[in-house]
Amino acid sequence: AEADDQLIIDAGQKQFGATVCGSCGMIYSADSLEDNFQHTQFHQSFLDGIKFVGWKKERVVAEFWDGKIILVLPDDPKYAVKKAEDVRRLADNELGFQQVSLRCPSQAKTYLYVNSDRMVVGCLIAEHIRQGFRVLEQPEQTKDMTREDFMEHHRAWCCSTTPEKAICGVSRIWVFSLARRKGIATRMLDTVRNSFVYGGHLTKEEIAFSDPTPDGKLFATKYCEK
Ligand code: ACO
Ligand code: ZN
Repeated sequence: AEADDQLIIDAGQKQFGATVCGSCGMIYSADSLEDNFQHTQFHQSFLDGIKFVGWKKERVVAEFWDGKIILVLPDDPKYAVKKAEDVRRLADNELGFQQVSLRCPSQAKTYLYVNSDRMVVGCLIAEHIRQGFRVLEQPEQTKDMTREDFMEHHRAWCCSTTPEKAICGVSRIWVFSLARRKGIATRMLDTVRNSFVYGGHLTKEEIAFSDPTPDGKLFATKYCEK
């Protein structure tokens, strides 16, 4: 990695310096033997996991200046399904859910964002669902609302327990840490809305996120506002 790729977070203490690896994105303490060991272990397997060699048949569903989105379906060739699983495992590992399986693996659609350096830097898994619990703010005028109304509306949005009709459930969305805030998740979700149902277009209201993380909530809220 070039020197520029190394970002040092100054935690104020000399012996407590956190380093972000410019290739794999792992944050670790370069002073710690244990951390260095863990980084070495993680580094290559992660980079191997997101490496994309290119396939004879790729279902490219969108193309961008910095990459493309490939859709992988359950009945695709083994190498494609395996890649989708490898990336999902890396994402799950970071999300902290180890054992959570998909609702119905034979129905899941995996969208992989491959960048121009041939790395899978984004992964979105979408499944058909019949209902979801609203975590997204509905487009609605708040102009004439009283403060109380607004708070009530906001709370209802945060804690909704009422199932609503949805068509597409996003069970995983993940972007490589060093590639975040570049609109990759936004573009993956736009692409899902245009390609999930053949010949149709899904509205934002027809998408539901399962168990979003804090990052996921911030992203979903912003996405729905636009
Ligand atoms: N904090 C605040 N706002 C955010 C964040 C964040 N961490 N992430 C996205 N946003 C908002 C911003 O307004 C952003 O626009 P801006 O950059 O112009 O301000 C807007 O959402 C669009 O963001 P994108 O660039 O499209 O999102 P990104 O490609 O960075 O991916 C994601 C977002 C997928 C949540 C990423 O942060 C990630 O992979 N996090 C770790 C894994 C995770 O928590 N995934 C969600 C799990 S929930 C689930 O899978 C159902
Ligand atoms: Zn590394």
